[in-house]
Amino acid sequence: MAGRIPQSFINELVARTDVVDIIDRRVTLKKSGHNYTACCPFHNEKTPSFSVNPDKQFYYCFGCGASGNALTFLMEYEGQEFVAAIEDLAAQLGMEIPKEAYSEEPQRQHEYHDLFPLMESVSQYYQQQLKSHPNAEKAINYLKNRGLSGEIAKQYGIGFAPDEWQNLTTLKNQSENLQKDLIETGMMLKNEKGHTYDRFRDRIMFPIRNRRGQVLGFGGRVIDQGEPKYLNSPETSLFHKGKELYGIYEMRRQLRNIEHVIIVEGYMDVVALAQFEIYNATATLGTATTSDHLQTLFRLCKKIVFCFDGDKAGKAAALRALKHALPMVRDTREVRIMFLPDGEDPDSLVRKIGKDAFEERVESAITLFDYLINHLKFQVDMDTFEGPARMVHLAKPYFQEITDPVLSARFLSRLSQMAGLSEAQLNEVLQKDNANRTTPEKRQAEYRQPAETRADNPVSEKSSDNTNNNQSKNKIPFRRAISLLLQYPDAFPAANTSWLKSITEPGAIILYEMLELTRENEGMTTAMLIENWRGRPEEPHLNKLAITELHIKENNANSELCDIIKRLERTYVIDQCDTLINKSKKQPLSQEEKETLKRLLQASQNG
Ligand code: GTP
Ligand code: MN
Repeated sequence: MAGRIPQSFINELVARTDVVDIIDRRVTLKKSGHNYTACCPFHNEKTPSFSVNPDKQFYYCFGCGASGNALTFLMEYEGQEFVAAIEDLAAQLGMEIPKEAYSEEPQRQHEYHDLFPLMESVSQYYQQQLKSHPNAEKAINYLKNRGLSGEIAKQYGIGFAPDEWQNLTTLKNQSENLQKDLIETGMMLKNEKGHTYDRFRDRIMFPIRNRRGQVLGFGGRVIDQGEPKYLNSPETSLFHKGKELYGIYEMRRQLRNIEHVIIVEGYMDVVALAQFEIYNATATLGTATTSDHLQTLFRLCKKIVFCFDGDKAGKAAALRALKHALPMVRDTREVRIMFLPDGEDPDSLVRKIGKDAFEERVESAITLFDYLINHLKFQVDMDTFEGPARMVHLAKPYFQEITDPVLSARFLSRLSQMAGLSEAQLNEVLQKDNANRTTPEKRQAEYRQPAETRADNPVSEKSSDNTNNNQSKNKIPFRRAISLLLQYPDAFPAANTSWLKSITEPGAIILYEMLELTRENEGMTTAMLIENWRGRPEEPHLNKLAITELHIKENNANSELCDIIKRLERTYVIDQCDTLINKSKKQPLSQEEKETLKRLLQASQNG
């Protein structure tokens, strides 16, 4: 049932709802410290043990164990079905429920690459319309006014979607079930009455291609003014916003050698820079930059320059980018950050100052570490006795993200100069702190859960004691990591964690998925995260982990998570090594396996 309403819509709905408000309208809440309390509406009691946490957007009853987010509350309190609860909330917020992408009939299973020829013909069709449709003139004029040549429009495959509801069903395409495929690729929508219609109408169309040039989706810009300014293809089997970048294919076709890549915000920025023969720009698709994005780019070149607005939002975005980037920088991989003058974006700036001056700015962008150090200094008053000490404290979470040994050593040395401590002293401060946080006994104690959470479930610790299997031993840290992330979704570590996918332990997959969700969506709450597991077998256990008392301070969540994940990765690396070494005793390893083993052995020494 949940499947028919897109998860992205449900997440948005939960994001915009205030659980305190929803509950307070039905059960009078009283403020108590940071939380709100009431007598539990789900069991009979005289003293209140029902508590609502506004940060987590989650409620919990210490008496009967009822817990959940706003949707859960409506379902349980009003006895509503899931869909009815969604409809209720959506109506209150004036949001329309998209019933798209999923149809009543069971879905035909596609090999996703079957859909590429269709997307290509859609793209060709839009490009054709830009040339020949009677109403295309305003689109052409708009593009001309923004300074784009026909040649650049062609290079980027820019097109025009005419203002009609059924353009795409007229496509001449070999596809045997055109309409269904158009819905699956997000190009058409289906309304409640079962009528289908084009998603993009009266818009300038930017095809989003993968590095091989295959069209995955589109960004559609309104011509001139209008809302929404951009309409993007939804997530589909072809299109994953957290992985794809705009303009990579075009960049690679233009440039034989890519010296560095500039990350900008908008489609128009990429295209405008190309118009000025700056071909090495790329844009994320309306999302924050993820580790996956950076990894893709580091495969293309050794240097990445982030381009941000000079305002407060730009600075905040820069700090988030910094966290993602730190674990990926090596002495051979460079990341820089460039800030734009107030009120400019790359498109407007390059028009004003021209190619050379723009490139000079890129050239002189501040390095990641210089930016970090400036940022740390500005956070405190370095002229006071306490300032530098506080700075050391602030630097710690960043320090822990650095994986390159040379950079890590240099950072330590710089920090020691600034803090007026010897490196040995500083090292001791950081070490001592680490030791305090992670003695085995302490960790053991922290991981101990209330008995009720020890159900038979993938993230419980049941049966983890009497087995020698490494992966089972991992259950406890997985569970701890999942609780931490659930309760402090902003604390996600920036390190690449795609290795988690190779671990069969069920907790690993949950953790992986959860990390992706927190990275890709800003401002996640516990309630929003958990919503992604509704109806899945793990849901009840995650509900418990969401309210497990963790006994930490919020600002330690990130460092503890980083720490757990580093240890899990180490175990994983050692396991992989052992497997390969054992195999090599029985049969010769392939070249590839030998190289993997070499890499793993190195990693296990550095880790
Ligand atoms: P112009 O206004 O034409 O210069 O476009 P731009 O590419 O410079 O866009 P802007 O800087 O305003 O936004 C940057 C990016 O955010 C866009 O390229 C889109 O990916 C995304 N974006 C902007 N507005 C919207 C919107 O209304 N809806 C959605 N879904 N995404 C948007
Ligand atoms: Mn712009």
